[in-house]
Amino acid sequence: MSNRKIEVLSRPDASKARSRLNERKVVRSDIQIDPSLEVYKGKSFYIKTYGCQGNVRDSETFAGIFKAMGMVETEDPKEATIVLLNTCAVRENAEEKVYGEIGKFKDRQKADSSFALVVAGCVMQEEGIGEKLMTSYPQVSLVIGTHNINELPECLASYVKGRRPLMSVYSKAGEVVESLPVSRSDPYKAYVDISYGCDKFCTYCIVPYTRGRERSRDLKDIVKECQDLYLNDYQEVTLLGQNVNSYGKDLKDTSFAELLDKVAEIGIPRIRYLTSHPWDFNDEMIRAMKRHPNIMKWIHLPLQSGSTKVLKEMGRRYSKEEYLALVEKIRTEIPEIELSTDIIVGFPGETEEDFLETIEVVKKVGFDSAFTFIYSPRPGTPAAAREDQVPEEIKHERFNRLVKAVEEGVSASSERMVGKTYEVLVDGPSKRDKAILSGYTEGNKLVNFPGPEYLKGCLVRVKIKESHTYSLLGELDEDPVLAKAKQVASFLKRDPSAKEFISHTKELKDDLSFRENLSLLSKAQKAVALSRSEAEHHKAVEELKGLQDLIDNDPRYANREALKEEVEGLLRETEAILK
Ligand code: 5AD
Ligand code: SF4
Repeated sequence: MSNRKIEVLSRPDASKARSRLNERKVVRSDIQIDPSLEVYKGKSFYIKTYGCQGNVRDSETFAGIFKAMGMVETEDPKEATIVLLNTCAVRENAEEKVYGEIGKFKDRQKADSSFALVVAGCVMQEEGIGEKLMTSYPQVSLVIGTHNINELPECLASYVKGRRPLMSVYSKAGEVVESLPVSRSDPYKAYVDISYGCDKFCTYCIVPYTRGRERSRDLKDIVKECQDLYLNDYQEVTLLGQNVNSYGKDLKDTSFAELLDKVAEIGIPRIRYLTSHPWDFNDEMIRAMKRHPNIMKWIHLPLQSGSTKVLKEMGRRYSKEEYLALVEKIRTEIPEIELSTDIIVGFPGETEEDFLETIEVVKKVGFDSAFTFIYSPRPGTPAAAREDQVPEEIKHERFNRLVKAVEEGVSASSERMVGKTYEVLVDGPSKRDKAILSGYTEGNKLVNFPGPEYLKGCLVRVKIKESHTYSLLGELDEDPVLAKAKQVASFLKRDPSAKEFISHTKELKDDLSFRENLSLLSKAQKAVALSRSEAEHHKAVEELKGLQDLIDNDPRYANREALKEEVEGLLRETEAILK
C-alpha cells in the first residue's frame, strides 16, 4: 500500500532520544473527550500488553482513557471496536510477535468501518518503525509513543475526523504527566510508577532511548496514589522504576529510602519495588527495609553477567566481586531476604571463561528466582554495533547451561520451603482448576493450594507440601472463614464507610461448614434436651453424635470455641466500625 496517505504529527529521532538536556516538568493532565469520539460510546476495547510491568501500568492508563470515552473492556479481540497493542522493544522476538499480532486484524475495517487498531509502546519509539507499520499494514489506524499517552483521545479524534492513519511519537522526554485516568487490572495488587525513563545507558539496552530521560514523580503524588489504593482494599503495591534506587536524584531533598518510609507507613500489607540497580543500592535502603515489616523481604537485583570484563563493557558500573559483596551485605543485614535476578548470555565478546564466571556467581548466590535472556542486538545501542557478536549456536548452548544452573538454585530454594508455613496473598482460583487457589509468598514464590474462591485477595497461611522448580504445592494452615474475617476487619479499619462490607459478610454467612456446623450442633444439643419420647431422644442423640464426629474429625475445628469467638469478635468489631 505505497500510495496510502498517512499523517505524521511527530516521529522518533534517535539523537534527540539520546539527549538528556530536557528539563523535568510536572504536567497535570486534563483529558478532554472530543464529541467525535461519541462513535465509540458503548463499544468494546481490547488491549494486549507485551513486556515489563511499566507497560502493564501504561495499559491501565490506556484502559482508563477508553473507559472515560464510555467504552467497555473485552477479553475477546474479535468483539472489540478498538484494539490497542502495547509493544516492547527490549528483545527482538517481542517485536516480531507484534507484527504477527497486527496480521490478525487484516480485514477488520472492511467488516466494521469504525474499527481502529492502535499500536503503542516502546517499539514505536524506534526510528522508522511506525511509518513502516502504517504503510505496510492498512489495518493500523494510529501509532502513538510512550511520552504522549495522554494525547490518545486527541489523536483518536483526529483519526476519526480525517480517516487516515496517524502517527504521533515524541523523542524527547522531560514531562511527568499526572492525573491520568486509570483502570486497574487487579483489585488487590497494584503497580505504582515512581520514576520514568533511565539514564544508565547499559550498552545492550534500548530503554534509555525508548523511555527517555530518567525523571521522578513528586513524592506527594506517589504517596497520594498509594493512599487511594489503601482505602480501596489493595493488599500489595509494587513501586516501579527502571532504577528505583535513583529515585529522587532529580528532585530536592528526597531519596528512595524516604519514599519507602512514607509508602510503608500508609499501612498497605505488602510493598515491593522493581528494579534495583546494584550500583546504587545503598545502606539507607537496607535500613528502610528492616524498619518496616510490610516491605517484602525480596529484592530483584539484576546481575546481567558474572564476568567483570563483560560487566564493564555492558556499562554496569560494578564488578563481580562488588555484586557478591552486596549480596553478602544484604544477607547479613536481612537473613530472610530472597533474591531474584536477570542474566544475559552471549553479550558481544563474551568468552567461554566469561560465561563460566556467570555460572560461578549463579552457583555462589543461589538465586531464589531468575530471568534468563539471550543477548539480542538492539538497533542504535553501542553493543549492537560491535563486530564480535557471539554466534547464535553458542548463545543457545550457553543459555541452556545457564538455565540448568539457575534451576538448580531455584529448586534448592523451593525445596527448603517444604514443611514450613508461609503467608500467601491469594490471586484467585488457578486457570486449570477452580478448586485450586494460587498466590505468591513474601519472597515472590508461586504457591498452589486447595481452598474456597472467596479467599481471593486475602493473606492466608499455607503450609508447603511439595516443591516443583517454579511453583509449590501447599495446604491451608488456618481456618478460611477466619482469614476472610480478618481481611474484612482490616478493610473496614481502612475505610469505615466501605460499601463492600455487605458483600463480604454475606460471603461469610453463606459459607460455611464451620459456622453452620457449630449452629447445627447447638440446635442438636437443644433437640436432645427437649426430646419428650424415647424414640425422639434416640434420634436426636444419633444426630448429635453424627455431627460431633464430623466436627471432631475435622482438624480445622480442633480449636473451635476459640475460633468461633475470634470470628464473632471480628464481625462485632467490623459492625461497630460501620456504625
Ligand atoms: N538482550 C537481551 N536481554 C536484554 N535485556 C535488556 N536488554 C536486552 C538485550 N538487548 C534484559 C536485561 C534486563 C531485562 C529487563 O531484559 O536482563 O534486566
Ligand atoms: Fe536498561 Fe541498564 Fe537502564 Fe536497566 S539500567 S533499563 S538495563 S539501561
